[in-house]
Amino acid sequence: MSSKKPSSPAPAAGELARGLAGVVAGRTAISSLDGDLRYRGYSIGPLAAAGDFEDVAYLLLYGELPSSTEHAAFTARLQTAAATLPPAALEALAGLAKHAPDASPMDALRSGVSILGQLARDNAPGTRTAQLHQAEQLLGQVPALLAAWMDLSSGRPVASWPRQPIAAALLERLTGRTPPADHVAAFGTTLVLYAEHEFNASTFAARTVVSTGSDMHSGIVAAIGALKGPLHGGANEQVLEQLSAIGSPERAEPWVNEQFAAKRVVMGFGHRVYKDGDVRATLLGDICRRMVAGTPAAGLEDLAGRVEQLMLKAKGLKPNLDWPAARIYHALGLPIRVFTPIFVVARMSGWTAHIIEQVGDNRLIRPLSLYCGEAPRHYTPASGR
Ligand code: COA
Repeated sequence: MSSKKPSSPAPAAGELARGLAGVVAGRTAISSLDGDLRYRGYSIGPLAAAGDFEDVAYLLLYGELPSSTEHAAFTARLQTAAATLPPAALEALAGLAKHAPDASPMDALRSGVSILGQLARDNAPGTRTAQLHQAEQLLGQVPALLAAWMDLSSGRPVASWPRQPIAAALLERLTGRTPPADHVAAFGTTLVLYAEHEFNASTFAARTVVSTGSDMHSGIVAAIGALKGPLHGGANEQVLEQLSAIGSPERAEPWVNEQFAAKRVVMGFGHRVYKDGDVRATLLGDICRRMVAGTPAAGLEDLAGRVEQLMLKAKGLKPNLDWPAARIYHALGLPIRVFTPIFVVARMSGWTAHIIEQVGDNRLIRPLSLYCGEAPRHYTPASGR
């Protein structure tokens, strides 16, 4: 089992911690990474094996697993939200797709959520019940926005949303065919593993925004912007770009050495919190290897295995979740540019749960900085310079 080792010693009060490493910045009851990853106390292993995204999203939002009746009702509410995107949001996306069809789907989601917030006149956190309703709306709307953008940016009319749980529906919408059950199961597992991870950069961004009294949509827009970066969610797309660039296991060693010589990070390796391996990568790596065995995608596994050996030997670094997730998405026939947006779809559950938690026990998030600029000096008005 992977464990959480302190990556940096906790800084003393008033001491600078670059990148906030080792800083405890708040409390959460949503997930814990101490020895194992747990969502609301449940170990990630069985949740990932079940691969039931709606079950996990409900757990994160409401704090308990749903009864079968609650599960069915929650799933139906998400489907309704996905199937009834506001026409004005679709029109706005259609306009953007006409002018910039090659824009990143992450930008389309960031803009799409902003437009949804504007249409909903979301200006401040409402009651807890209203926030839960908003969270459910977003959980359904965001995958539908992604599928709509992929249609519109390819010049196709927006297809209807399949009346299926999110894993099956989104996979069908993004691949254009009804997926086999084992593909839906693997995809569902990735959504569960991507759903939540305590105070990561995007979640912390969302919490910071709503700590000012701002609204849920604004918090989510900030989170999407943070997730886009390659050191965070953007890594899963870069993993496949890298594997394609290397091409074959024989090319792996010179390629890895080249990255080290140029002081470039290898995407899909390392983690701020897990210094002894990411439990999610171990779980998903096994699923990935089983899923692709005997298929054309198996070739990529030999290459991935070789890079893993080299990274461990040279730097003692182990893969993070993005490493197997990218290979699974590739094996499922998904285009690279939807990899990070799929992470958005999944993390929407963690983000909205954290926003509700922050609002429920709020104190403005406002750290200090250590000044390192000029010594005090006198101002001369422009006319005298
Ligand atoms: N490739 C090569 N070297 C890496 C590395 C990687 N993926 N990840 C960390 N390192 C190196 C660092 O450069 C550093 O080397 P140095 O001591 O010579 O400066 C050392 O390992 C320790 O890194 P650390 O300071 O603990 O990393 P961090 O906590 O600041 O950063 C990440 C964590 C995730 C940003 C970093 O590991 C990374 O950039 N990984 C690649 C991007 C990625 O996969 N992101 C998804 C994360 S889930």
